Amino acid sequence: MWSITTSLVSGEFIVLEGADGVGKTTQTALLSWWMNARGIEHVVAREPGGTPLGEAVRELILGKMDLQIPPEPELLLILASRAAFVSEVVKPALADGKVVLADRFALSTLAYQGYGRGLPLDDVRDGLRIATGGLEPDLYILLDLPVEESLARQASSGIQPDRIEREGDGFLRLVRQGYLALGDSESGVRVLNGSGPPEAVQDKVRELLIEVFPETFGDSAL
Ligand code: TMP
Repeated sequence: MWSITTSLVSGEFIVLEGADGVGKTTQTALLSWWMNARGIEHVVAREPGGTPLGEAVRELILGKMDLQIPPEPELLLILASRAAFVSEVVKPALADGKVVLADRFALSTLAYQGYGRGLPLDDVRDGLRIATGGLEPDLYILLDLPVEESLARQASSGIQPDRIEREGDGFLRLVRQGYLALGDSESGVRVLNGSGPPEAVQDKVRELLIEVFPETFGDSAL
């Protein structure tokens, strides 16, 4: 008598990243559409969010305009959302062999709470380790755009800015510089130019996925 107690099957964990206004959410939606067309089983989620706790945190830190949230509590709230996201969404989906496609993950916390809010990066990393249990994405796709272009896209979207977007262009500049520094220093991060029509950016995103994960996204996987 024997039983299998662990599964060796694991899907890919892919994260789209970038400062507000780079077009990440549009690219995530286009990618999900492409994966559906290719029959690739996947889970799409955004952060903060993705779980009931995460959505409550999202409402608190993005929706409550009159609430003062200093940087440390903001970090801790985001880490609470991250911990729930990892245990309730990411790990079960990967264990099922599904692709996880996330709109933001830990790189956002380093860029926004570290570089943007000025919290020590080592402290942010310590918190992330607790929240994620050390789980890292297989690939971060970091979309980059000059701040002026990001601001113009945000303005033309007609969507009311959230609490963090209201920090203005100085904050957005710090975040973008942080992302670019992380793009140089962190492993598993590929930077793509987010300028141009969404379809052209999407082509570059798909080419990158085919290059990095040919067995999942290449034509031979069809
Ligand atoms: P978005 O879903 O429209 O990108 O908005 C999420 C906002 O939350 C965005 O301004 C970035 C911010 N954020 C952080 O500050 N830290 C984080 O770790 C994450 C995931 C998001």
